[in-house]
Amino acid sequence: MKSQEDLKRAVAAAAIEHVPVGTIVGVGTGSTANFFVDELAKIKSKIDGTVASSVASAKRLESHGIRVLDLNSVDEISVYVDGADEANSHLHLVKGGGGALTREKIVAAVARKFVCIADESKLVDILGAFPLPIEVIPMARSYVAREIVKLGGQPVLRDGFVTDNGNVILDVRNFSIVDPVGLEKTLNNLVGVVTNGLFAQRPADVLLLGTQNGVRALNR
Ligand code: 5RP
Repeated sequence: MKSQEDLKRAVAAAAIEHVPVGTIVGVGTGSTANFFVDELAKIKSKIDGTVASSVASAKRLESHGIRVLDLNSVDEISVYVDGADEANSHLHLVKGGGGALTREKIVAAVARKFVCIADESKLVDILGAFPLPIEVIPMARSYVAREIVKLGGQPVLRDGFVTDNGNVILDVRNFSIVDPVGLEKTLNNLVGVVTNGLFAQRPADVLLLGTQNGVRALNR
């Protein structure tokens, strides 16, 4: 029986096949993305550099001697590799368990291809069992929370957590997300919301799932 760590390590290794030689690679955040960074270190001489989706990932990349670039100095990102908290069969995702959702969404938007890596426990029929993270400007916290309650959600402030952008996170329970694209847009329209953790307007292009029988690939 492979552990969850084994499954994460296996998908991280499989993602290396999606990294084109001589390009800039977008790198996600979290424990699965950390395994990808460790794999990327083995081929670091074959890529031009990386763009990181968090301060933590930038530090890990640099600790391996991998070049980290500012997104504004980069014209193109060939592939973005990142984990997820939940994924459905349309490759819509819930992300942000690590609080890096805004930078993750920016790097995913720029990337030509988004490869999501996850162990099989992350695949669900309907998104929403994992609390949906929403990054909010601090002064709008209470207002946004009230608006989310009107939409049927139960927001909880992530205690003692400040994002890399200086904002707070509301983790929202009780959303049964049958229309991920619609909910993503609705939440983004609330004044004070920076980003929400639904990646549906820009879903993953490939989902690599670590299973007991090997790595399974789902394509959009
Ligand atoms: C961080 C994220 C992560 O990708 C997500 O939380 C999954 O993390 P892990 O790979 O540790 O399970 O969105 O903001």
